[in-house]
Amino acid sequence: MLAELTHRCPLACPYCSNPTELLGRADELETEVWADLFRQAADLGVLQLHLSGGEPASRTDIVELVRAARDAGLYTNLITSGIGLTPRRLDALEAAGMDHIQLSLQGTNAGLADWIGGYKGGFDRKMQVAAEIKERGIPLTLNAVMHRHNLDDLEQTIDLAVELGARRLEVACVQFHGWATRNRAQLLPTREQTETAKRIVAEAEARLRGILAFDFVPPDYYADYPKACMGGWGSAGLNVTPNGTVLPCHAAESIPHLTFDNVRERRLAEIWYDSAAFNAYRGTDWLPEPCQSCDRKEIDFGGCRCQAMALVGDAGVTDPVCRKSPQHSVVQGILDSVAPGDAPEFLFRGKKPAEARRKEPT
Ligand code: SF4
Ligand code: FES
Repeated sequence: MLAELTHRCPLACPYCSNPTELLGRADELETEVWADLFRQAADLGVLQLHLSGGEPASRTDIVELVRAARDAGLYTNLITSGIGLTPRRLDALEAAGMDHIQLSLQGTNAGLADWIGGYKGGFDRKMQVAAEIKERGIPLTLNAVMHRHNLDDLEQTIDLAVELGARRLEVACVQFHGWATRNRAQLLPTREQTETAKRIVAEAEARLRGILAFDFVPPDYYADYPKACMGGWGSAGLNVTPNGTVLPCHAAESIPHLTFDNVRERRLAEIWYDSAAFNAYRGTDWLPEPCQSCDRKEIDFGGCRCQAMALVGDAGVTDPVCRKSPQHSVVQGILDSVAPGDAPEFLFRGKKPAEARRKEPT
């Protein structure tokens, strides 16, 4: 279960996959409501809890929330930019039972990282936090969100992950949901970048076996087949937004005909098993052709519903990323428009210092 504790965030990343309209502090669930939800989740069979945002450390009760999650018996992972994690807070989180930290990485140097994150001084702060995490021996995953402006630094990213003592590196090419769709032309890597990245990851995986594990998420648009988004809709995971809305996936609210239940009104188990939204695309019976007669239907479940919605305005069709999709030409058209030269300027989210977002550092 992914618990999006808050949409508040000090960073302004142009690849943010949160919705374009964010929830405010007043909309957020109270500590005790989250704690009760964690217990319900454990009863339902949830094993791992990912505390995310926004920046989850923006919540002043983050330590209490981690303690509540651990008390419920959940493996607890904090997904953070590191901003707001003072040494004292890290001590308290560790004492509360936090199992793992996933630290985001915007770039391998201050110029690039602070430009992409729209937060001056963010990179240096992050490096300090990474050192504190390493010192404490807390298991660390580095989550490098990769795109056109930093994919060429992949080798340095891998070196940095090893240096910081990360056990896992997510090389996560940007997915185009929420705010990120506004910056698609600026973020989409070229085919050449993507092919080089695949080769670098394969080599590093062999070289660093036993030291650093890799999760490589290549850009969907260059793939022949889509990914099984969320491991299949309503199959292995669920998301809870800051106000308690329960979603089958992070971007599900982009599908206009679905309505979603809230933990303030229904029990989590009831929502998971019985709600219309969770049952809308569960399993394979609903699949259209060509998926219905395809031998990959139990592998990718027709791909990503939100991607189908975003690309062709219909969440109920084969993911257009699939080369068998009758609408695959839409993806091809987007790829054809990716020029190898300069990309247009980013649209950063939120209000950040002008100097941090004016242009890419040299
Ligand atoms: Fe997957 Fe459907 Fe494409 Fe087959 S046709 S590979 S099931 S998305
Ligand atoms: Fe919603 Fe893929 S992000 S199904």
